[in-house]
Amino acid sequence: MSAKDDATRTGNGGETHQQAGGDVPAMTTQVGTPISDDQNTLKMGQRGPTLIEDQAFREKIFHFDHERIPERVVHARGYGAHGFFETYESLSDITSADIFQRAGERTEVFVRFSTVAGSKGSVDLARDVRGFAVKFYTKQGNWDLVGNNIPVFFIQDAIKFPDLVHAAKPEPDSAFPQAQTAHDNFWDFISLMPESMHMVMWIMSDRAIPRSFRFMEGFGVHSFRFVNEQGESRFVKFHWKPKAGLQSVVWDEALRINGADPDFHRRDLWDAIQSGDYPEWELGVQVFDDAFAEQFDFDILDATKIIPEEILPVRPVGRMVLNRMPENFFAETEQVAFQTGNIVPGIDFSEDPLLQGRNFSYLDTQLKRLGGPNFNHIPINAPRCPFHHFQQDGHMAMHNPRGRANYEPNSWGGVEGGPREVAQGGIRSVPVAYRGEKARIRSETFADHYSQARQFYVSQTAVEQQHMADALIFELSKVKTKAIRLRMLSHLQNIHADLAQAVANGLGITDMPAPADAARPTRSDLPESPAL
Ligand code: HEM
Repeated sequence: MSAKDDATRTGNGGETHQQAGGDVPAMTTQVGTPISDDQNTLKMGQRGPTLIEDQAFREKIFHFDHERIPERVVHARGYGAHGFFETYESLSDITSADIFQRAGERTEVFVRFSTVAGSKGSVDLARDVRGFAVKFYTKQGNWDLVGNNIPVFFIQDAIKFPDLVHAAKPEPDSAFPQAQTAHDNFWDFISLMPESMHMVMWIMSDRAIPRSFRFMEGFGVHSFRFVNEQGESRFVKFHWKPKAGLQSVVWDEALRINGADPDFHRRDLWDAIQSGDYPEWELGVQVFDDAFAEQFDFDILDATKIIPEEILPVRPVGRMVLNRMPENFFAETEQVAFQTGNIVPGIDFSEDPLLQGRNFSYLDTQLKRLGGPNFNHIPINAPRCPFHHFQQDGHMAMHNPRGRANYEPNSWGGVEGGPREVAQGGIRSVPVAYRGEKARIRSETFADHYSQARQFYVSQTAVEQQHMADALIFELSKVKTKAIRLRMLSHLQNIHADLAQAVANGLGITDMPAPADAARPTRSDLPESPAL
């Protein structure tokens, strides 16, 4: 008989009581009161009503009732892991970021991979972008590189993000489809947004159905800035390359896996890490200056464009190894709060209008999702370096200022006076100069929506091109409105005639529409609205 069995007794209702003793801890209420019976509520008589004075019962049910927090408005389904980042060599000539100063130095990281459109309980193998968000706990504070497994994005300006997400999520009246992009609203929106065409090519490619998180690339997407000690700045794009290489499944496999094991990707990461087969990525950078940026026909501030690696090779600067699963999914993976706004000295934003909007959005949504302004006090979000500020109070405050001062400047010296600004090494913005009129405007340099879409399509092998055509046929065959299918074909013609023809054949469309107007649509020449 085991010690556990020894500690088991049966109550008068036949229920099992497993009891504390030895190294089995006592069960208590939240405030530490030992509990003697967790099987029965307190009742008035054998068959009488439950008494409201039963604090242990009320506390247990109250807490259960409040277990759910809002799921992320996008990227709701995700899976995280801990690990480290190791710098290959000092980058002090191009950035003062502490994490890139010393070869061989390791920095703790937490990574969350995710799908975008599905809800928290959706399937892992949906055709979708994958989030690839990394929190670096550096000595100069947390740096969040909140990227995706695709290097470009659907839209150029953050003001369109709510529309994109509304169109991609389940339709508001029917509440389906839950996890696939194949429906009229999505393709209606996409076909009215030519800027999304490059991203659509990636989404229709095998990249959108990865074999596992371990075989995915990651991208910071936007151009950011590196700044060195002398204040000189350059643009930088970030890339993650999986050591294991890239692998995808084919669509039929994805559909079967979703049915057989909707947790396929999270199980794969769990099994790999638990068995010591730690996944690894190299971090690479493309670094360039203004003169280099200006030679392109496209704008390096436009998140629908890449800088081809043949023109500017990716320079490996470090590696990341994931070697520990969270102890608790909710505490870590669910409560982690990544923010593009979390940068460190030596890294700065660019003026990419999508990035600028993101910098507002993450903080704002987390205020609601995590229940107040103190979510950075949660251990997974707290920095691992010393931190001192005068922010105080609010729900769940854990780190109020100590001592007398909660403002500055103040007259109290030393420790009593609290933290002060740093003379050197603090966060500073690159002093970029702007001139211009205040206007709701999009730069003409953001106008070409098809060249890089075409480049991506022709870069694929014949088999991969076939997969793209098949994906478009599958998706558009689910679209009931013929005008939307035709509008998509008019865009595909601007990308590649073979692709357009293959899709038209697959859909049984013989009246091929004229190519879409390739000029950037303005307010007055937006593609015809669907008066269908
Ligand atoms: C969440 C990436 C564009 C708003 C996320 C996550 C990733 C991500 C990886 C999940 C983070 C996690 O695992 O917790 C990207 C990329 C974008 C992009 C690469 C474009 C290049 C945008 C834009 C907006 C936005 C334009 C809004 C203007 C959000 C919001 C969340 C989110 C609200 C949920 C955050 C949370 O609840 O913690 N994004 N995103 N994203 N993103 Fe984005």
